[in-house]
Amino acid sequence: MSQHPPIPATLIPGDGIGPEIMDATLAALDALEAPFQWDTQAAGLAGVAAAGDPLPAATLESIHRTHLALKGPLETPVGGGYRSSNVRLREEFKLFANLRPVRTLIPGGRYDNIDLVLVRENLEGLYMGYEHYIPIDGDPHAVAIATGVNTRQGSRHILEFAFDYAVAKGRKQVSIVHKANIMKALTGIFLETGRDMYAERYAGKFDCNDVIIDACAMKLVMNPWQFDMLVTTNLFGDILSDLIAGLVGGLGMAPGANIGEHAAIFEAVHGSAPDITGKGIANPIALMLAAAMMLDHVGLADKGERLRTAIDQTLNTDKVRTGDLGGSANTKVFTDALVARIRNG
Ligand code: NAI
Repeated sequence: MSQHPPIPATLIPGDGIGPEIMDATLAALDALEAPFQWDTQAAGLAGVAAAGDPLPAATLESIHRTHLALKGPLETPVGGGYRSSNVRLREEFKLFANLRPVRTLIPGGRYDNIDLVLVRENLEGLYMGYEHYIPIDGDPHAVAIATGVNTRQGSRHILEFAFDYAVAKGRKQVSIVHKANIMKALTGIFLETGRDMYAERYAGKFDCNDVIIDACAMKLVMNPWQFDMLVTTNLFGDILSDLIAGLVGGLGMAPGANIGEHAAIFEAVHGSAPDITGKGIANPIALMLAAAMMLDHVGLADKGERLRTAIDQTLNTDKVRTGDLGGSANTKVFTDALVARIRNG
């Protein structure tokens, strides 16, 4: 048995492949004797089915109590329907920072030796949901309007998080990604705040530069090694996080952490993958890497590192890989091999 005192945490299996990859991740955490004391709750479509609400009160209460959650993907209807439960969770718990590290896990791919960290602002920008239509001549959707809001305080908050992370982890460079040439106010405030903060408090601790979002996307594809850490506003961060996931073999490999002052929620970057749900073939690595970040977050970095090492050994020594990585293993075969690696060291 683990000697560590139990750590209360909320468990949200999620929709689609969520329960499949969550079972796999729990098997890994059990093998590590991670001392989480889970309170299982529903959200997304599962929340609607269980409690008539994509974000049931019991789920919110649980996270208010534990301040910590591991979450599977949640489905969001496109166009109409309910608002994203993910966005609501970020708002409810003021999870202002979205931390998305990507690392090459399988050498010899199109891009080798990738080690990038993206920090995305999680609460502001064009994701605030200030949207409406203007009807004209009987067309109810003749004009669509969205308002983005970035604040000095919000920009400061996320830039400070990114810069402090760079110092704590010894990163070499932080690139501030923006579109201040066109959206001069909305993203200009972010760039201006970043430049000022770096000059005032962080100069010399790491290099800092800035890059326009479209050029950044091109440069990441042409030569990703020129970047070390990226910090950017909400929408750009959403897009770039999928792009950098692609550099290391796709969404099945990319974890994310949503971090606020009083709560942290860990998840895979990918969605509920309805096209493969129920087939037992999903790659659980992204959620497992999110669990490793959660272990780091609660001060159990040794277990986080053991999990990452076991993933590496399973992929590269045992060559057990799921279909999205060109292998033939299903979720269970991969998980059994991983658990054996954890148990046998
Ligand atoms: P998706 O990420 O679910 O799927 C995109 C493609 O990647 C699919 O072909 C899928 O099979 C594949 N894929 C994703 N994860 C995989 C894994 N672990 N192993 C193997 N293949 C994997 O994106 P999509 O289809 O756009 O979204 C589906 C639903 O998920 C939507 O309702 C969306 O709103 C939601 N979503 C939720 C997120 C969250 O809760 N954090 C994030 C992104 C999307």
